[in-house]
Amino acid sequence: MLKLPGLIDPHVHVREPGATHKEDWDTVTQAALAGGITTLLAMPNTQPPIFDEATLNISLDAAKAKARCDYGQYLGAGPANADIVASLAPKAAGLKMYLDSTFGELRLDDMTLWTPHFQQFPKSAPMVMHSESRTMAAAILFSVIYDHPIHIAHVSLKEEILLIKAAKEKGIKVTCEVCPHHLFLTKDSPLPQGEGLGVRVNGRTEVRPRLATQADVDALWNNLAVIDCFATDHAPHTLAEKDSDSPPPGFPGLQTMLPLLLTAASEGRLSVDDIVQRLYTNPKKIFHLPDQPETWVEVDENAVYEIKASDGFSRCGWTPFEGWQVKGRVTKVVLRGKTAFENGKILAESGYGRNVRD
Ligand code: DOR
Ligand code: ZN
Repeated sequence: MLKLPGLIDPHVHVREPGATHKEDWDTVTQAALAGGITTLLAMPNTQPPIFDEATLNISLDAAKAKARCDYGQYLGAGPANADIVASLAPKAAGLKMYLDSTFGELRLDDMTLWTPHFQQFPKSAPMVMHSESRTMAAAILFSVIYDHPIHIAHVSLKEEILLIKAAKEKGIKVTCEVCPHHLFLTKDSPLPQGEGLGVRVNGRTEVRPRLATQADVDALWNNLAVIDCFATDHAPHTLAEKDSDSPPPGFPGLQTMLPLLLTAASEGRLSVDDIVQRLYTNPKKIFHLPDQPETWVEVDENAVYEIKASDGFSRCGWTPFEGWQVKGRVTKVVLRGKTAFENGKILAESGYGRNVRD
């Protein structure tokens, strides 16, 4: 038996408010616990988006009633809410800035809209960028000019990881995360496909950032030391939506991240300590998260099994890793002294989870 600390996922799309047919605070925290995650940070691209006190409270009230693991809620940077989100910073996980095209309406196209957020958001509070390729380079420049540390979400490209490496070598305060789907899949991976008539694209491959090339994936693995965190970017959409003519981008990932990483560890591609640093030590520091006393995850390192969406707690009902053979199963999760998950069953009740900022 392997004992790990309660893991942290700093990038989760909960879907409540607004799209609870995909997921809600109850199902998402069940999937988290089953994946060994005891703290998740929720993204603000909900309906409505989380961009002021009223919308923040909608999400936090739902979380308080339903969440089974601990949580924080990000604020979304909008075109005219820099002062509002700055004043709400102590109640939030951090500020998420959508600088590139994504699912939902939060997007800051014009760089003049970035400036007030960089100027006003508290220096000690986390700022997370959805910024791909050259947009990422621009975000790093803003971080230098306005002297605000930033965290780059879901790094997927060789050019990105190499620039972050160079920025870190210059002493620039930039951190980053990489998602399992960008470590284990390429744009050419054979993914299960929907059978619906009239399907023009395989919606099940759609994710932002897109799946990249083998050279990009290799660059991520070869620069593991530059990667501060692993994060799922758990972005559930139903199979009917994924197999439709206009499939929304996003993959679920809460229950598959740890088994995939443990499998890679069993193959010698990284160590268990590398995993713990990136799913506990570093995110705890970067996102200023509190201790969870009497909290741990038990793993059967030798359990070999197939990933099946039907074992999942997410409401979305599918996984891009269907049928993959993995080694390493979460058998028990203890959260603040209470057994929250054991032998495939969720034991923590709705409402047991705590806001990391309370
Ligand atoms: O694939 C994605 N899905 N990328 C994003 O940036 C958003 C996410 C979602 O909310 O579905
Ligand atoms: Zn995301």
